[in-house]
Amino acid sequence: MEDNLDCPVVLTGNEHSKFLSKRYGYKEWMISRFLNFIPHPEKMLDYVHDSKNLHYYIRVNTLRTNPQELKRRLDEKGYLLRETILKEVFEIKNPGFGGIQIKDTGITIGRQNNDVNNDNKDAVTTPKDYDLQSSKDDDLGSKQPSIGSTIEYLKGYYYIQDLSSCIAVEELEIHAGSDLVVLDMAAAPGGKTTHIAQKLDNKGAIFACELNSNRLASLLFNLSRCFVQNTIVLNIKAEEINELELQFDRVLLDAPCTCEGIIMKDHSRKKSRNLVDLETCSNRQKKMIISGFDVLKPNGLLIYCTCSFAPEENEMIIQHLLNNHKDAKIEPLNYGMDGLTSFSKYQFDKKMVHTKRFYPHIHSTNGFFIAKIRKKPN
Ligand SMILES: C[S@@+](CC[C@H](N)C(=O)[O-])C[C@H]1O[C@@H](n2cnc3c(N)ncnc32)[C@H](O)[C@@H]1O
Repeated sequence: MEDNLDCPVVLTGNEHSKFLSKRYGYKEWMISRFLNFIPHPEKMLDYVHDSKNLHYYIRVNTLRTNPQELKRRLDEKGYLLRETILKEVFEIKNPGFGGIQIKDTGITIGRQNNDVNNDNKDAVTTPKDYDLQSSKDDDLGSKQPSIGSTIEYLKGYYYIQDLSSCIAVEELEIHAGSDLVVLDMAAAPGGKTTHIAQKLDNKGAIFACELNSNRLASLLFNLSRCFVQNTIVLNIKAEEINELELQFDRVLLDAPCTCEGIIMKDHSRKKSRNLVDLETCSNRQKKMIISGFDVLKPNGLLIYCTCSFAPEENEMIIQHLLNNHKDAKIEPLNYGMDGLTSFSKYQFDKKMVHTKRFYPHIHSTNGFFIAKIRKKPN
């Protein structure tokens, strides 16, 4: 596929897309695109419309505790935990979100989860003067605080994070306590950085880049809360990482994106983004993936992910990398639905089928995309 043709792709709407966009409150250009590449798109629109369908997950921080011990403690407090495909991740049926209100700041602890994290909606500063507030939600009649306000949360025993995000780190192939040097190109508020740190058992080193200085506080807070000791935070544009003259065994690019995949958690995104935003994100993602791949060691692994459905932010970014780096090879992943091998008039590399997509109405997660890329050995 050639690069940069008609990006983003504009698809003509019809009476049906007009009807659906009115019914569910989206901009029509989004719906006419969804109808072209999302499986059972109307089912998804219906599913995402109803907040009762939201799923919440917590990841056990194995630097602080283990799944059995955390489950015991949270069971005692009345939380209902269910196992998932990952042994360190539980679904939580009654999260009782409400959070901790930090007096005089309006800042809430405990909502930094779910990758609602491209626009400072999430996360925390330092917990200086906080008020443990019971949730107003009457989940199953319980009176426990929200899952983002427990003592266990504040002590870093777990991180509130979508299952799809946890799968992205799982796929980085980090074996317990291995001495790897890892680059996290877009780190705040630290969901994936803290996960990588626990996989490394605080060994090796993580270089965590974050461009937005307003988001550094949340990153530093979570690193400290989760007892992470192997991470160097860099307030830089990740595209400029080559200036450090370092090479990495693993690179994670959890790219800043349009966040279409978290509309269920933030309904304003049905209308707040336009095609120019999509183009801006896509262009930045292309630069970031090339920079990340450039500093990857031979035989090293790069995981690229977004919480977007848009092919311009997903398969087209991977295709851009393949077009520019003959030593980049797509590898298979363990979970999710196959990536697209074509979109509109574009055909992608046959191996694009090994990239994976996650959909709320199918996987009970955020909308998410993951690709695993190996740099061929010299
Ligand atoms: C999807 S969020 C990262 C979420 C994070 N990985 C986690 O799991 O908690 C993307 C982040 O990239 C940051 N960002 C945007 N452009 C960047 C750039 N050029 N270099 C580094 N970080 C950037 C944003 O401020 C945002 O915090």
